[in-house]
Amino acid sequence: MSQDLFSPTKLGSIQLANRIVMAPLTRNRAGQGNVPQPINAEYYAQRASAGLIITEATPISATAHGYPATPGIHDAAQVEGWKQVTAAVHAKGGKIVLQLWHVGRISHPSLQPGNALPVAPSAIKPAGQAFTYEGLQDFVTPRALAIEELPGIVADYARATRNALDAGFDGVEIHAANGYLLDQFLRDGTNQRQDEYGGSLENRTRLLLEVTKAVVDVAGAERVGVRISPLNPFNDISDSAPQRLFNHVASSLSPFGLAYLHVVEGGMGGEATPDFDFEDLRRQFKGGYIANLAYDKARGNAAIASGHADAIAYGAIYIANPDLVERLRQDAPLNTPDQATFYGGDAKGYTDYPTLQG
Ligand SMILES: Cc1cc2nc3c(=O)[nH]c(=O)nc-3n(C[C@H](O)[C@H](O)[C@H](O)COP(=O)(O)O)c2cc1C
Repeated sequence: MSQDLFSPTKLGSIQLANRIVMAPLTRNRAGQGNVPQPINAEYYAQRASAGLIITEATPISATAHGYPATPGIHDAAQVEGWKQVTAAVHAKGGKIVLQLWHVGRISHPSLQPGNALPVAPSAIKPAGQAFTYEGLQDFVTPRALAIEELPGIVADYARATRNALDAGFDGVEIHAANGYLLDQFLRDGTNQRQDEYGGSLENRTRLLLEVTKAVVDVAGAERVGVRISPLNPFNDISDSAPQRLFNHVASSLSPFGLAYLHVVEGGMGGEATPDFDFEDLRRQFKGGYIANLAYDKARGNAAIASGHADAIAYGAIYIANPDLVERLRQDAPLNTPDQATFYGGDAKGYTDYPTLQG
């Protein structure tokens, strides 16, 4: 029988009631101390009919932060805050994994402990501006991480994974997409290191593989996913040969036996992108595959029926449609997301989108 968005499936050990995934969405509505609040639990619980929720990107350490009011997973109060979220989602029969995040150079001294410089593979300043508590400010030239510091970063990922499991998550997703730290190591536009973490494909992939091993050692491979975005230029990132790089990334991740690979299949701003064969990428990875970027119901069903993807992640549309699964099932009209309330604010544009039931 042919599968579609509404067929149950399993990604690693995570059982999904359907293949409609809530994509990770930063909403900047954490409380004091970057602690999740009751309103965050309400927001996620409203979306618990998704086959799987992937949380907003969640900083793994104090230096991993790059935006205001993003919920962390590096101290006890944050773990307690997240417990309300996982409990609320589980009470409604949902599944939820936490997206592990280190922003690398996409930060600002005002968001760093002791006003320090953000860290990166190489001291290359991104074009553009950081979102800070004082408004938009120009990015600064980051400090290149010393090789001796990398084991500490890997350890931060492991500790954050332990915290996520303590907080009740069904698993974790390693954020290696969208121009943040792990993506900065992968791509030759941002990684110009001369040591064994720069240069060759093997070297540029090394940190991601070390992080994956550390996270898998804590959570078990069947509860770990990885997100990549081979063509996304977001955060001023680039690579001279993305197909070669990301085929290598996918084939190197494959032996871990991960729950899934999650792929943003283009540029998030709808930019023109170079030719890229996502089928070829997919063939390099044995395991679940979540596809993302501008999918609607028809394309989602087609990708699942053809075997291209096991599940589809929906981003912006999930902000505005807490009952997206039901709306897609009924071919009901969708609410339009209000971009003005994407990042920061209160319940408006967060927990007040209507369901079909009103
Ligand atoms: C408001 C907003 C916040 C986002 N935050 C994250 C994030 O925290 N982590 C991440 O990997 N992607 C993030 N993304 C990207 C989405 O997960 C997704 O890749 C993108 O919206 C494309 O999917 P769509 O076309 O279904 O919206 C964000 C996108 C939006 C619109």
